[in-house]
Amino acid sequence: MFRTAVLLAPLVFLGLAACTPQTATRTVTPTEQGVSMQQKLVDVQTVRNYVYSTATRQEALTAADDLVGWSERMKVLFPPDQVSKLYADMTPAMAQDAPVVMARLTTALRTAVQTGTPRQAGEALTRLEQDGCGYCHRRPYGMKAP
Ligand code: HEC
Repeated sequence: MFRTAVLLAPLVFLGLAACTPQTATRTVTPTEQGVSMQQKLVDVQTVRNYVYSTATRQEALTAADDLVGWSERMKVLFPPDQVSKLYADMTPAMAQDAPVVMARLTTALRTAVQTGTPRQAGEALTRLEQDGCGYCHRRPYGMKAP
């Protein structure tokens, strides 16, 4: 079965938690991949809260650590030789390269949270969202990065 809905709405995930009642409206059991994505979104929001001073550095560090670990698991969640069968809009090349990009950007984010200012953490977070999450969530649709 092809699962296209999420990737066809590339930017929506950034505001998803705010506007989608995740429990009430879901009619299919979320995949492991989908559940992991929701957790990553929470992590991203936690780091953003830190940037805006509504979460602690320690909370942001835990979230950044989780993002680093998830990047390492991506190849298992999205096996390059199978993704095109599972997702209509994901290519083997995306599945191959995304974990490498994600590993680099999440590690940079963790360093920025650990040793930088909140502003630097915010810049690293923006890069992660645009070039990391955006690697899958935007590129195929030819949308320009903001
Ligand atoms: C390897 C490509 C790839 C990368 C990188 C990626 N995603 Fe996803 N994302 C997907 C796919 C494929 C789905 C659909 C998963 C499913 O439901 O099976 C998805 C689904 C989602 C969903 C919806 C989950 C649900 O079912 O409710 C959210 C939210 C999300 N991603 C956020 C993110 C965030 C935040 C990042 C960056 C930290 C990110 N994604 C990085 C491919 C990717």
